[in-house]
Amino acid sequence: MEAIFLCGFMGCGKSSVGRKLSQSLKSQFTDLDRYIVEREGRTIPEIFAENGEEYFRKIERLSLQEVSQNGGVIATGGGALLNAETADFAKNFGKICFIDVTFEVCYRRICGDENRPLVQKNSKRELLSLFKMRRVLYRQNSDFSVNGNARVQDIVKKIVAKLPLDVVE
Ligand code: S3P
Repeated sequence: MEAIFLCGFMGCGKSSVGRKLSQSLKSQFTDLDRYIVEREGRTIPEIFAENGEEYFRKIERLSLQEVSQNGGVIATGGGALLNAETADFAKNFGKICFIDVTFEVCYRRICGDENRPLVQKNSKRELLSLFKMRRVLYRQNSDFSVNGNARVQDIVKKIVAKLPLDVVE
């Protein structure tokens, strides 16, 4: 089976939707952030604090290239598919789905999260402006979007309905 990459802002539900989607398609599930943490042997806040965001982005790009080969459902981090070249690379292995959720919903889920350096470092206003800039890129770089303001199982159904048959089979 080809890969299905889930992208979207922090807190949009990439991991929970991804896990359910992989069960429904009986395919492998990879959480890119978790893969990075295992690969590096340290947490994301530790990577940011010790080596900076640029280093994290480099490892994130390499990790995405590594997991793409395995196919299945891949929940990416909120910054992983903002770059058009990285998105084009991913598209060679499958489809990119953007989970479109309102900022308020994302913010309610992520505010105060100590495991997300960008949330620690930015005010709500700054996160909103990041959200607006990134939403444009998620839309540009993905193959299709689903409205993620719904229950997990309903989002999964919407994604399955939009997948080409050769991805589902
Ligand atoms: C990031 C999102 C995080 C994680 C890192 C950076 C981002 O993943 O990759 O903290 O730049 O949006 P989630 O989207 O799963 O929170």
